[in-house]
Amino acid sequence: MGNKQKILVTGGLGYIGSHTVVALIQAGYEVVILDDLSNSSLMILDRIEQITGVRPSFYQINLLDKKQLYAIFSDETDLSAVIHFAAFKAVGESVREPVKYFTNNLVSLLHLLEVMDHFQVTNLVFSSSATVYGDARELPVKESTPFQKALSSYGSTKQMGEEILEKTAAVKDIQVISLRYFNPVGAHDSAWIGELPNGVPNNLMPYITQVAAGLRPSLTVFGNDYDTPDGTCVRDYIHVVDLAKAHVKSCGRLIDKKNRDSFEVFNIGTGKGLSVLEIIHAFEKQNQLSLKYEIGPRRSGDSPAMYADVTRAKEILRWEAELGLTEIVTSAWKWEQTLHPHNTCL
Ligand code: UD1
Repeated sequence: MGNKQKILVTGGLGYIGSHTVVALIQAGYEVVILDDLSNSSLMILDRIEQITGVRPSFYQINLLDKKQLYAIFSDETDLSAVIHFAAFKAVGESVREPVKYFTNNLVSLLHLLEVMDHFQVTNLVFSSSATVYGDARELPVKESTPFQKALSSYGSTKQMGEEILEKTAAVKDIQVISLRYFNPVGAHDSAWIGELPNGVPNNLMPYITQVAAGLRPSLTVFGNDYDTPDGTCVRDYIHVVDLAKAHVKSCGRLIDKKNRDSFEVFNIGTGKGLSVLEIIHAFEKQNQLSLKYEIGPRRSGDSPAMYADVTRAKEILRWEAELGLTEIVTSAWKWEQTLHPHNTCL
């Protein structure tokens, strides 16, 4: 127990963070979680313990509180790496509240870098997003595909976050892996952890599961007149359990000093694009139910199609997605059902 490598995970009770904490514990790491609970729940800490048999250390902290961050780092010595998930992520809200997003997402990153430098913690995995590519002109997108202007302040914070990290890693003793996630979906197969959206979901999968649960009357498909095979938007949906494993791989790569550059980026997706209608129909078929949906107007800011070239992750990180659409739609539905055990519609 005493000589396990210790990983600090900011935002470790969130959707992707909690799945990553489980994967880290199962891979033999000791985990310390930092979370301000602004978009997560302490109940998830119990759930992590139920799944793994281990209760990680937990600190409730907002990373804007630099003094508290210093105090935690001086308590938690011998950190082998940090995974930084903690950030705001609602795209629409970020357009309305740019200062809130720039402050939270960038100042917290700067604090983390300062404190890591002070305590000589040299390995960092950063939570980036396919949103950095903007409205990409070539598909599939490669890591070398140039960024287009970000469509939201959320997207800008991810582009700027990467730039801050690249410039810092070029001159300081810090090694960074930035993972650009495509569309994370699904839940742990235990259905003890999953996505907990605040209010009306913005994203497709939680909207679908809430319609299936009878919590919302119907799903609106945002446009069916795009230049795609069935007219609806195409995305690269990645199972959150696969995504969690990409973080474990990245930590191992940094700790074993296998990285080739001080700043590396990887696309984390399946490499396969699926349309909104394909997702709806797979959800209906695998879960044997019928979903109420209608075709509505396009949502502003949506790209017609976005999917990853995953060659780099496969060849260099030695990671690739193992779970497919069946596991995605069944685990998402199983998770939604556990949230409403008394709902008679289910
Ligand atoms: C969005 C963000 C992205 C973020 C990701 C995960 C934008 C431009 N991108 O991706 O930065 O990293 O979420 O949080 O906002 N759809 C419907 N009906 C719905 C909801 C969605 O038809 O009720 C469609 C959308 O038009 C889209 C697809 O489903 O084609 C996926 O949408 P969503 O889950 O919101 O993800 P993205 O927009 O791809």
